[in-house]
Amino acid sequence: MSDNAHHHDQTLSLTIRVWRQPTRLARGAFQEYEVNGISTGSSFLEMIDILNEELVAKGEEPIAFDHDCREGICGMCSMTINGLPHGPLQGVTTCQVHMRHFKDGETITIEPWRARPFPVVKDLVVDRSALDRITQAGGFISIRTGSAIDANIISIPKPVADRAMDAAECIGCGACVAACPNAAAMLFVGSKIAHFNSLPQGRAEKSQRTLSMVETMDAEGFGNCTNYGECQTVCPKGNTLDFIAQLNRDYAVARAKTFFRSTGKKRAGA
Ligand code: FES
Repeated sequence: MSDNAHHHDQTLSLTIRVWRQPTRLARGAFQEYEVNGISTGSSFLEMIDILNEELVAKGEEPIAFDHDCREGICGMCSMTINGLPHGPLQGVTTCQVHMRHFKDGETITIEPWRARPFPVVKDLVVDRSALDRITQAGGFISIRTGSAIDANIISIPKPVADRAMDAAECIGCGACVAACPNAAAMLFVGSKIAHFNSLPQGRAEKSQRTLSMVETMDAEGFGNCTNYGECQTVCPKGNTLDFIAQLNRDYAVARAKTFFRSTGKKRAGA
C-alpha cells in the first residue's frame, strides 16, 4: 500500500438492513440488501440513491426517505443509523455522513425515527408535523416588525443575541426525540423557547408562549424529560441541556404568574 493510499477512495461492499413499511398502518419489517462498489467518498444518502436505482432496475419499490438540502440545513434527512439518530458522528445530520466512516463488509441498520408522536408514513419517512404544531403554538410576537422602525433601536446585549442565535440553530429534525427513551421533545421546545423568549421582541408573550408550547407538547404525546441527556448527544447543531433548563425556569415563572392571577394574590413588591 502506498503512503497516500488513504487519500484515495476505496469501495465497500455492504449489507443494508433497512426498515420497510409501505403505509402508515401497514406492519413494517427489516429487509436486507447487498450493495457493492460503494465509494468511501460518497455520502450516506448517495449510497441509498445507488441502492434505490438498483431496486428500481429490478422493478422493486425504492426506499422512501426524506431529504432536501443535503447540506445540514433543512433537518429533513431523519433516520437512525446503527441505533443512533443521524448515525455515528456527532454534530452532523445524516446527509453530512460519508461512507468512509463505515467498514467493508459491514451490516448497516437503518430505521425511521421511533417515537409515538412521529408516525411512520413510509419506510424511513415519518410525520414530524407535531413539532410544527408546537412551534405554531408559540412562535409569534405581537410587536409589529414590518413597520419602519429600525430594528437596531432595540439594543440587545451581545450575550443575549448570541444565546438566541445558538438556540435558533435548531433545525427541527427531531433527532432529540428519537434518541430520548421517553420520546421527550424538551430540547426542541427548549431551543425554541430560548430563541423566542431571549430577544426583547419576544418578551411580551413570554409566559403565554411557554405555557401554550408546553401544553401542545404534552397534547401531542411527547414524554417527560428525565435527564437522560441523549438528546444533546445526537443534536446535529450541538444544542445543549442548558436550553431545557431555561425552558423549566420560564415554565415555572409562567405557571406562578397564572397561579397568582387566578387566586388574585399579588407577588411581594408587585
Ligand atoms: S437533507 Fe437537509 S439537513 Fe439533511
